[in-house]
Amino acid sequence: MLVETCPFADSVNKKALNGKTVVVIDVLRATSVMITALENGAKKIIPVLTKNEALAESKKHAPGTYLLCGERNAKKIKDFNLGNSPLEFTRETVKGKILIMTTTNGTKALNACRKANKVYIGAFLNLSAIVEQIKDSPEVVLLCSGTNGKFSLDDGLCAGMILETLEEYISPEMDDLGHLLLKTWRNSKRNFNQALKNCDHLNFLKDNGYEKDVEYCLRQNTTTILPVYDPKNGCIVV
Ligand code: MLT
Repeated sequence: MLVETCPFADSVNKKALNGKTVVVIDVLRATSVMITALENGAKKIIPVLTKNEALAESKKHAPGTYLLCGERNAKKIKDFNLGNSPLEFTRETVKGKILIMTTTNGTKALNACRKANKVYIGAFLNLSAIVEQIKDSPEVVLLCSGTNGKFSLDDGLCAGMILETLEEYISPEMDDLGHLLLKTWRNSKRNFNQALKNCDHLNFLKDNGYEKDVEYCLRQNTTTILPVYDPKNGCIVV
């Protein structure tokens, strides 16, 4: 297996994804939210790039069947039903609903994957399920979403843990960034919170009152839910 690791959404060569398996990672918080929402019974998620696209998409669905979800600067978008806190996506709220979602980086990374063969939604929450699914793929891309065009260590450590877990099954051939993140993960996994103490986006979330979201998103292997994004119909389902 050949594994390429991309540090942030815009860094990916979209055309080169043709035929490859991609894992989109946005630990804080978009992919953790998607996993949680589908675990709690959401029917499907439609990721879009902008607020206007989300509103246009909502017109295609009957009132009461969908929820508009997403954030800008980590805050709920005005007039939307939900923001981007995984703790909002409870079973009572999302069961059976179509979630139309736009986030700053996570949905952007997903939209970059239109040429890929398979696209999985990964985070610490479902890490083992992801590895189990991709371990036989010949070419895998770990697409860290990052934050506003920059690498974010929460995503990088998740990529490092995926690489370490893959090594329990095979010897993946990886690029320089993959080697770096694997080493960083190995050096920091025993003191995870310490390793993330200077992570910009994590601190931004904490400073804005989302400490509980951070705690939630950093939990490992709490679910075997495996969301898949189908670039042809633009939907994420389990
Ligand atoms: C994103 O997609 O940029 C994030 O999930 C931002 C956030 O933490 O809300």
